[in-house]
Amino acid sequence: DHDVMDKLVSLCKRRGYIFQSSEIYGGTGSVWDYGPLGVELKRNVKDLWWSAMVHQRDDVEGLDAAILMHPRVWEASGHVDGFTDPLVECGNCHRRFRADLPEVAGGQCPSCGTRDAFGEARSFNLMFKTFMGPVEEEASTIYLRPETAQGSYVNFLNIQGAARQRVPFGIAQIGKAFRNEITPGNFIFRTREFEQMELQFFVEPGTDDEWFDRWLDTRMKWHLSLGIREEKLRVHPHGPDELAHYAKKAVDIEYEYPFGWKEFEGVHNRTDFDLGRHQEYSGKRLEYIEPGTNRRFLPYVIETAVGVDRTMLVALVDAYREESVEGEERVVLALHPRLAPVKAAVFPLVKKDGLPEVARKLHDELRAATIPSFYDEAGSIGRRYRRQDETGTPWCITVDGQTLEDDSVTIRDRDSLEQVRVGLSQVRGWIRERLDD
Ligand code: GAP
Repeated sequence: DHDVMDKLVSLCKRRGYIFQSSEIYGGTGSVWDYGPLGVELKRNVKDLWWSAMVHQRDDVEGLDAAILMHPRVWEASGHVDGFTDPLVECGNCHRRFRADLPEVAGGQCPSCGTRDAFGEARSFNLMFKTFMGPVEEEASTIYLRPETAQGSYVNFLNIQGAARQRVPFGIAQIGKAFRNEITPGNFIFRTREFEQMELQFFVEPGTDDEWFDRWLDTRMKWHLSLGIREEKLRVHPHGPDELAHYAKKAVDIEYEYPFGWKEFEGVHNRTDFDLGRHQEYSGKRLEYIEPGTNRRFLPYVIETAVGVDRTMLVALVDAYREESVEGEERVVLALHPRLAPVKAAVFPLVKKDGLPEVARKLHDELRAATIPSFYDEAGSIGRRYRRQDETGTPWCITVDGQTLEDDSVTIRDRDSLEQVRVGLSQVRGWIRERLDD
């Protein structure tokens, strides 16, 4: 099944989804660049999350906090002391590994095969450090954020006041996070620079268990709404030894990747840990004052946290198919139409008889209606279909001789391969209907 990953990585490069960062210099370890199609898929993922989590709710507000924060934030949050992985180094090849990897547990180096290869594990902090201002010294050390969550906590009262929200309500963020992972890999599954989509939902203590279940359910439904196959998703509750330093209860929504069942999204009950610590470290009261009763309390936080990149990986892996159609092999990315970078490809059947002009006009109309469209007149119709199958384009529209007679075109469905004839003026509505469905 690792085969599938290799094929996906190569398709992503060939078609312009994902490139290795700084490839001409030999690449940067576990950092990736998103090309023309990748950036569109990424925007679609983020837009769909934002729409579901912010625009369609009255009880969630958006925020875009800075990546750089006051260094005390990370002391208060526990990340300076606690955001570490146990690290071991092979005495022979000097490669470093996370001590808790199953491959390392037996003491044999996964890289060079040496037995009893490792000494004592030491704690390795995953936060990237840099300096603020012109002096590179301990006192000017700041961190690249390893999660967006802290920006929501330090702005809790700003947002609650400005948006006149009452508990329960939430703060949603999409943004970059950085972790100096010891053992990254599996393409964009675990990278050192990535993007998160996180919700911090503030609730009254005592209602936290109920909100936890509700959010887990809501998030699961969102994944299904992207067309992810249900049998590839499962819920894994964290045991006491798996819990992050801030969590009372946590579950992972897991996906079955070609390299096994692994985390897709985390849902955490962070209690009042973060607000309490920020109150203590900043010396500022962060309690919510309930209107009417003037009761003061620190809310509990239910967090839902998922990677943008990881969602893209799940979408791509879930959509990747190799099929035999009419005796011909094809590779198809059966992405949900809402995720697909290009929604429609418009082809003139032949490059003459005025067909290109009609096709171009349709292409322009679709774009003007904000339906991402691609025009292609090069090569045989079969080859053009195959290219769009690999790209993940749900509908290919062909202008042919009959179009000149009755103003109709064929629309070919990527997955079922069915072809229907639709009037030129109806194409826009036909696609819009299926995207909004
Ligand atoms: N604020 C809580 C938090 O950050 P997490 O489980 O460490 O929790 C949340 O991260 C999600 O972010 C993960 O479920 C995963 O989707 C994504 N993620 C975490 N580390 C990542 C990495 N190194 N590369 C890509 N995505 C990552």
